[in-house]
Amino acid sequence: MKILILNGSAHRNGSVSKMLKEIRNNIPESNSVEEINVYDLHFAPCTGCMKCRSTGTCCMQHDDAHNFAEKIKDADALVIGSPTYWGNMNGYLKMLFDRIVPVLMGESKKGLPIPMQKGKKAAIAISCTTPFPFNIIAGQTTKNKRALKEILKYSGYKTVGTMVMPGTKMHNDISDRLGKKAKKIAKRISKN
Ligand SMILES: Cc1cc2nc3c(=O)[nH]c(=O)nc-3n(C[C@H](O)[C@H](O)[C@H](O)COP(=O)(O)O)c2cc1C
Repeated sequence: MKILILNGSAHRNGSVSKMLKEIRNNIPESNSVEEINVYDLHFAPCTGCMKCRSTGTCCMQHDDAHNFAEKIKDADALVIGSPTYWGNMNGYLKMLFDRIVPVLMGESKKGLPIPMQKGKKAAIAISCTTPFPFNIIAGQTTKNKRALKEILKYSGYKTVGTMVMPGTKMHNDISDRLGKKAKKIAKRISKN
């Protein structure tokens, strides 16, 4: 299995990076794993021209979003990590997803979505400063997760697990609970 990890955090030793590392460390070595941090990519924002909906490719000047789109096509599974920003995924990460729509989703003549990555697996790792249970009550991680799942669902991915770390102002270490979760996700994502 070729597993692509997309890290949407600017903090190389932050909560999201730690969760992704824990998942990665539990993926059997027989799999190939590549991790890309969105902050290492240079790309322009989507201009909303909608040409990709009929051509199937992004017509903007070639940049890292095109390169990343090729990696999505090539990978069998995707793990996305994102901090919660304003009850959503990180903005730069969202910008990347906006740029790679044609590899994720096609559109019928009537505008209905056609999943382009059907059958592939995905997992999510998210964090926020709001402590438990307010991350749920106030919908912080819940909305972030929903937004990521929206993309994954319409792209055809099956989400096999979600890791959530709330309360990161107080601590951002991997608890026993999160460690177990990471193991489960690693097992499920690497299973053929
Ligand atoms: C621009 C911005 C917006 C944020 N919005 C929220 C939010 O809506 N809810 C929340 O609980 N934390 C919010 N946070 C805090 C981050 O989610 C939190 O610090 C997260 O754990 C960072 O993870 P990282 O260090 O792995 O990147 C925000 C942080 C930033 C910089």
